Amino acid sequence: MRTPVDLSKAYRLLNHGPVTLVSSAHGGHQNVMAAAWCMPLDFSPPKVAVVIDKSTYTRELVEASGEFVLNIPGRAIAAQVIGAGGQSGRSLDKFSALGIGRLPADRLAAPLIAGCVGWLECRVIREPHNEQAYDLFLGEVIAASADARVFRDGHWHFDDADAALRTLHYVAGGQFYVSGESLSV
Ligand SMILES: Cc1cc2nc3c(=O)[nH]c(=O)nc-3n(C[C@H](O)[C@H](O)[C@H](O)COP(=O)(O)O)c2cc1C
Repeated sequence: MRTPVDLSKAYRLLNHGPVTLVSSAHGGHQNVMAAAWCMPLDFSPPKVAVVIDKSTYTRELVEASGEFVLNIPGRAIAAQVIGAGGQSGRSLDKFSALGIGRLPADRLAAPLIAGCVGWLECRVIREPHNEQAYDLFLGEVIAASADARVFRDGHWHFDDADAALRTLHYVAGGQFYVSGESLSV
C-alpha cells in the first residue's frame, strides 16, 4: 500500500506534527531513533528540520552518510517508538531487539521503517553552525511515500481508516496523543 507522494505535497506528511522515527545507514550499519522535534521547512523543493542530539548513534551515521529518512509511525508501533527512543543503536541492534521491520528506500541506503504510514527520504543540507550549536539538521526531501489507506490525493484520511494507522503526537514520559477528528474551516 506504499504509494509515492508528489514532492510538492510532501510537507503535508509532517504538517500536523507527528512524532517520527529517524532511520540512517553508513558503512554497512543501519539504525533508527525516535524524534519528536522535527518540522517541514519549505514547499518546493521540500525541506525539513530535525534535532539530532550529539550523543546519538544516529548523529554519527547521518553526519557520515549525509542522509536520513523521517518515518511517520502509526499507532500500532507506539511501543517500538518508545523503545527506539530509549536506547542507543551503538550497543544494540534495535531492529532485531525491538522487532522493528525494514523496507528498502527508493533513493537512499537508509531503510524505511515498516508499520509507518509516511516516509520522507532526505539528503542533509549542510549547515555546520546549526548542527554544532543547536543539533539542528536540515534536509531536502528527495523522495516521499505514504500508506494510501491513510494518505492519498495529498491529504490524510484518518477518519475512515483503521485506528492502528493514526499518527502519534508525543507529549513526554511515554505519553502520546493519537491523531483525532478532522475539522475543516
Ligand atoms: C518519543 C521520543 C522523541 C524523541 N525525540 C528526539 C528528538 O527530536 N531529537 C533527539 O535528538 N532525540 C530525541 N529522542 C531521544 C532519542 O530517540 C534517543 O536519544 C535515542 O536513544 C538515540 O538513539 P541512537 O543512539 O540509536 O541514535 C526522543 C525520544 C523519544 C522516546
